[in-house]
Amino acid sequence: MPKPIVIWPDKVLSTRTRPVTEFGPALDPLLEEMMESLRTAEGIGIAANQIGVPLAIAWVGREDGTFFEIANPVVLETSEPVSLEEGCLSVPHEWEQTPRFAKVRVRYQDRTGAQHELEAEGRLAHVLQHEIDHLDGTTFVEHLSQLKRGLIRKRMQRLQKERAAEAAGGHVHSDECEHD
Ligand code: CO
Repeated sequence: MPKPIVIWPDKVLSTRTRPVTEFGPALDPLLEEMMESLRTAEGIGIAANQIGVPLAIAWVGREDGTFFEIANPVVLETSEPVSLEEGCLSVPHEWEQTPRFAKVRVRYQDRTGAQHELEAEGRLAHVLQHEIDHLDGTTFVEHLSQLKRGLIRKRMQRLQKERAAEAAGGHVHSDECEHD
């Protein structure tokens, strides 16, 4: 069973993650767990804190459907602002126009600790900004108006209650249990 994805609002999503200091095979189990949750949810990126692990590492999806890992990423440069429709595995069923940058230049480390610099535009730039935000403790809804964020918070709280009820046994209609 893949690890469940943490739903916003949750403290682990609003807390800046710890830098990765141990590289190599030690990271493999975590990356595999993250990938399993990502594939199950059919997402295009996932940050470690979305499965409850407060470490600065994420999977980022390329346009061709492949993924690469980024550890300790930093945005070095941004271009002109754009507004892009955005969603998040931690905020299911919500899609909103979100302020981002058209292009970004980022520095990150891979799972071996090797340093990389990448200039990205289009969807890749978008996913990078979204995942780096997660690692910094920011979910995309925090870029929206207070009004929109408030409405989304209510819907997420309802969703969490439904999921908790399901996890508790699924028998929401208790009188149905009377029938043998
Ligand atoms: Co997200």
